[in-house]
Amino acid sequence: MVDTQLLAQVPAHVRADQVFDYDYTGDSRILSRQDMGLGLHELHKTAPDVFYSPRNGGFWMVTRLDMMSKVLSDTEHFSNRVLEIPRIYSDNVMIPLNLDPPQHLPFRMVLMRHFGPAQIRAMEPGIREWANRLIDEVIDRGECEFGEEVGAAFPVSVFMQLVGWPLERFEEFRAIVHEFFRPDIVAADRVKVQEQIIGIVAEYFELRRTQPGDDLFSKLLQEEVRGRKLTTDELHSIGFLLFIAGLDTVANTLGFAFNNLAQRPDVQERLHANPGDITSFVEESLRRFSIVQQPRIVKKDVEMFGAQFKVEDMIVCSLPAAGMDERVNTSPETFDVDREGRKHIAFSTGPHTCVGNFLARTEMRILVEEWTRRIPRFRRKPGAEPQIRTGGVAALSDIRLEWD
Ligand code: HEM
Repeated sequence: MVDTQLLAQVPAHVRADQVFDYDYTGDSRILSRQDMGLGLHELHKTAPDVFYSPRNGGFWMVTRLDMMSKVLSDTEHFSNRVLEIPRIYSDNVMIPLNLDPPQHLPFRMVLMRHFGPAQIRAMEPGIREWANRLIDEVIDRGECEFGEEVGAAFPVSVFMQLVGWPLERFEEFRAIVHEFFRPDIVAADRVKVQEQIIGIVAEYFELRRTQPGDDLFSKLLQEEVRGRKLTTDELHSIGFLLFIAGLDTVANTLGFAFNNLAQRPDVQERLHANPGDITSFVEESLRRFSIVQQPRIVKKDVEMFGAQFKVEDMIVCSLPAAGMDERVNTSPETFDVDREGRKHIAFSTGPHTCVGNFLARTEMRILVEEWTRRIPRFRRKPGAEPQIRTGGVAALSDIRLEWD
């Protein structure tokens, strides 16, 4: 049942049978189960595969993997220019995320050259060292709040290595990241933190102009698009995107993965005994605990899946729902490290597929390897209940773990 006040906000091109009440920022199906995947899987049982929710400014939602793949690959009808629900037009264009073809590809290629398997493999010793440093900080205490103390801190240190920022400033950067992603931050404060981040990005691009090194910022200064160097504004935009794209996402995925692992002694034992299985554990975690609900804005009217998508309509591809789609993954609610033919699009699909996916997978694998090697048995602290937050990027807070 959709509230009559909400129904009044449904545009004329949406049929009555396509309207379904879903709250992008905190749906009761998710909050009551404290599980993004299970809450979204409920939609597979009760909602049309494609529906229109009048909440959050009104948006279409796609819940099936094959349909999402179609939307996310169709740049003729769907644009990345606006990725906010409710729709907000901003002058702040993040490169390459907010660009459509033909502008998008040349910038994406610039980044792809630095995020391939060979470049990321070269970072592995540094990533492993940081994983161990963070474990060192908590191991003797026998307990920690995983989310902040390990999950959030880890990708910050990796990012600093990648871009060549001095590790002595780790605590300072960590505090800025914490502030930027604080769920209750007001818009004006977020703008201030955003300016602070762009200030740091600008500072290090300037430094690398005169003191080039082997880091990503130095390399980006040498890159070219269409036969010219990147402008200062383009560099700042790319630097800012990298800063925000690779921190919260990795931290939150790790939070869900470790919260789950803490409740599965059998899987802990298996990973400790067979570290080679950790790659599959990471993939199953990405499927079962995928976190991004990915919007698009319609830029050209089109009829698809029986729906009329009109210019300026927002459309959400709920990537966690894709991994829970029983048409592609049998018994999707089961966490199965050995799952055959596993399908997920936690990193999206199509031309904007996450540039950092190899890095993110490597970070996750290394942290699980080092943790299960050094803390083979751990559990959730009795009485502690992590809280889920949903929206564009889902998160768990207050993940209290303990071990003997
Ligand atoms: C588990 C961790 C991560 C997840 C779940 C994730 C998820 C995503 C998703 C869903 C998109 C696609 C957006 C779209 O379709 O419009 C994306 C794009 C992107 N991600 Fe990630 N990401 C993660 C980690 C990272 C890391 C570590 C980096 C780099 C430091 C990174 C850099 C990017 C960039 C640059 C794009 C834009 C690509 C483009 O527009 O062509 N991400 N990510």
